Amino acid sequence: MQNKRILVTGAAGFIGSNMVEELRKNNSVVGIDNLSNTDTRFIEPFLKDGSLTFHKMDILDLDSLISLEPVDLVIHFAANSDVRGGSDNPQFDFDVNARGTLNVLEFMRRKDVPEMIFASSSTVYGEPSQLPTPENYGPYMPISTYGASKMAGEGFITAYSHYYGFRASIFRFANIVGRNSTHGVIFDFIRKLMKNKTELEILGDGTQRKSYMHVTDCVGSILFLHERIVNTDIFNLGNESTTSVVRIADEVVKQMGLKGVRYRFTGGIDGRGWKGDVKIAQLAIDRMISHGWKNKYSSDEAISIAVGEVLHQIHR
Ligand SMILES: NC(=O)c1ccc[n+]([C@@H]2O[C@H](COP(=O)([O-])OP(=O)(O)OC[C@H]3O[C@@H](n4cnc5c(N)ncnc54)[C@H](O)[C@@H]3O)[C@@H](O)[C@H]2O)c1
Repeated sequence: MQNKRILVTGAAGFIGSNMVEELRKNNSVVGIDNLSNTDTRFIEPFLKDGSLTFHKMDILDLDSLISLEPVDLVIHFAANSDVRGGSDNPQFDFDVNARGTLNVLEFMRRKDVPEMIFASSSTVYGEPSQLPTPENYGPYMPISTYGASKMAGEGFITAYSHYYGFRASIFRFANIVGRNSTHGVIFDFIRKLMKNKTELEILGDGTQRKSYMHVTDCVGSILFLHERIVNTDIFNLGNESTTSVVRIADEVVKQMGLKGVRYRFTGGIDGRGWKGDVKIAQLAIDRMISHGWKNKYSSDEAISIAVGEVLHQIHR
């Protein structure tokens, strides 16, 4: 992607900051974030060298959004990314992920923005009977309000795209891991083990198995595929392989140099980590591959690299 003026929402967050790092090399990048889930530490170098223009802004504030200059492309990452919190505060998922997405679409409509990239999620499928799950699997029955709000976001995007003639690439991510993450299983395990080096609490029964993708593959595949997609379309992004939660725990323990750590499983309803947790998630990635993208790292490799990266950042 080159010579575009690009707006990234959620620019200071985990995937957003990695995306900005890649885009700023050949494009003019404007980032917004309300900094509710992070601060500016991951984008500080780009603010210093002037390769990113940043505004602290909430996507729920439509007036502020539409005060922004028009752009060639919107990459919409801002979201409540806390899947677990949904059962305690379902309204919040609706507000940020559904209504917030609608506001971003209004900005696009009013400023005639021709293209959009949206971060959706495997959680829209709920607990599919088909694994790996292809993009055309249905019916969607999300089991979390996060998944439901992403599904709503997708629907508004395809409708706006139809009404107003812009092109949108919707990407349903598996679990993304790597540097700059401030949430998720690796981050959780490291924090817990820093507090208690003898015992690790693992949510669920330990049999959860999901496909993990390294953030560099996530960012790379999004940019690669968006350039090759002609119409508004939906793609799964993930890996063919999966990694169990116990394997992740083993990798964290190993890289932290710990010995004899006891694992304590919380059990939970049906062995899930929390209400709304999908125990086994594996997306079919045939479309991603058939369009020419090949991941650099498998699910296990992504985990192993990400554990090293997160440990390095925590100890810095
Ligand atoms: N990380 C994953 O494994 C994963 C999986 C599936 C989908 N996604 C989606 O990818 C996107 C990026 O996720 P992430 O993991 O980088 O999460 P993140 O929480 O690190 O990034 C989201 C950013 O959005 C910001 N934000 C939240 N509410 C906002 C608001 N109202 N206005 C402006 N900014 C706001 C947060 O401060 C944060 O910096 C999200 O849309 C998320 O739902 C992530």
